[in-house]
Amino acid sequence: MSRDGAGVPDVPMRPLVRGGAVALAAVLGALCAAPAQAADAARGSLLYDNNCVVCHTPKVHHREPPLPIDVADLRRIVASWAREQKLGWTDDDVSDVVEYLYQTHYTGRLR
Ligand code: HEC
Repeated sequence: MSRDGAGVPDVPMRPLVRGGAVALAAVLGALCAAPAQAADAARGSLLYDNNCVVCHTPKVHHREPPLPIDVADLRRIVASWAREQKLGWTDDDVSDVVEYLYQTHYTGRLR
C-alpha cells in the first residue's frame, strides 16, 4: 500500500479530499446552527454571570412584584441592559439570557 514510488499520481485523490472538506463543513455548519435556534440557558447563564452581576446579584430577580410583567417584557429589559452596557449582544444572546433568567427566576411569576 505504498503510495510513493508506485507510479500512481495522487491527482485523482484531490476531488475526494475536497468533497470530504465540503461535507465536513456542511456537518459543522449544521451543528453550529442547531443551538442557535433553541435558546440555550447554560450559555445564557455564562453571559449573565460575565456581564450582569457587576451591579446586581440574581436576588434582584426575586423582588415582589418583579419588574417584568411577561416574557416579552423580560426580553425588553434584558435587551435594554445589554444595549446600555454596549455588550453588542445578538438576538440569540438575548434569547439565551432570557431563557436562563426565566428558567431560574421567573417561571410561574410572569403572565
Ligand atoms: C449598571 C448596573 C446594572 C447592570 C450592568 C445590569 N443591571 Fe439589571 N438592574 C440594575 C438595577 C439598578 C435594577 C433595578 C431597576 C429598577 O428597579 O427599576 C436592575 C434590574 C434588572 C431586571 C429586573 C429585575 C426584576 O425582576 O425586577 C432585570 C431582568 C435585569 N436587571 C437584567 C439585567 C441583565 C440581563 C443585565 C446584563 C446584560 C443587567 N441587568 C445588567 C442594574 C444593572
